[in-house]
Amino acid sequence: MTSLRLSGISACVFDAYGTLFDFASAAAQEKSALGDQWQTLSDLWRTKQLQYTWLRSLMGKHADFWQVTGDALDFAMTSLNIDDPALRDRLMSLYLKLCAYPEVKETLTQLKAQGMKLATLSNGEPKMLKAAIGNAGFADLLDAVLSAEQAGVYKPHPDVYRLATDRWGIQANQICFVSSNAWDAHAAKAFGFHVVWCNRFGQVPEYIPSPPDGEITTLAALPAIVAKVH
Ligand code: LAC
Repeated sequence: MTSLRLSGISACVFDAYGTLFDFASAAAQEKSALGDQWQTLSDLWRTKQLQYTWLRSLMGKHADFWQVTGDALDFAMTSLNIDDPALRDRLMSLYLKLCAYPEVKETLTQLKAQGMKLATLSNGEPKMLKAAIGNAGFADLLDAVLSAEQAGVYKPHPDVYRLATDRWGIQANQICFVSSNAWDAHAAKAFGFHVVWCNRFGQVPEYIPSPPDGEITTLAALPAIVAKVH
């Protein structure tokens, strides 16, 4: 249990991949094809996907997250000497149906009952996000699905975080942003949000500016942290 309490929060905004959705569930569902390499492929795919977002943003060469995700998968498969176009297609399709972490739907339901506005704010391209959210069955709980695509640049650029304040016309410090990606948590804090790092993977803290306000291990702890005090 955490003793962290944040006051004055009117909206909770979530990163998608790694926070709401288990990106490793795509490769995990192809274990029979990938064998022992499934985890290596999954890790490499994710690492390259993120690197390509940062590189494209700095290069001023934006492409949407579906393209970037496919490019990263091509790099990962080539690195592991896997030449299987049908498997590539299946892995990309699975990315549209990633498993949500078990506590996500219940947590969103509780937050909604507390009167919070709820949104995702993700690098994901809108159709990818809508597919995963629809598949997980919590589309009705979200007030907004915000995509970096609307900013034309990727996180950690402040323009992406600004989509949330612009959406509701509220101050950044009225928003609690939640991400399992530590770099995303730091960047969101630098923008001005209250930030909770959902450290699902037991990682050590980053050595970059703007640490988050607090850390949890699953989203289940969140409703108590942002509960309005009466
Ligand atoms: C996202 C990635 C960073 O959903 O996880 O934006």
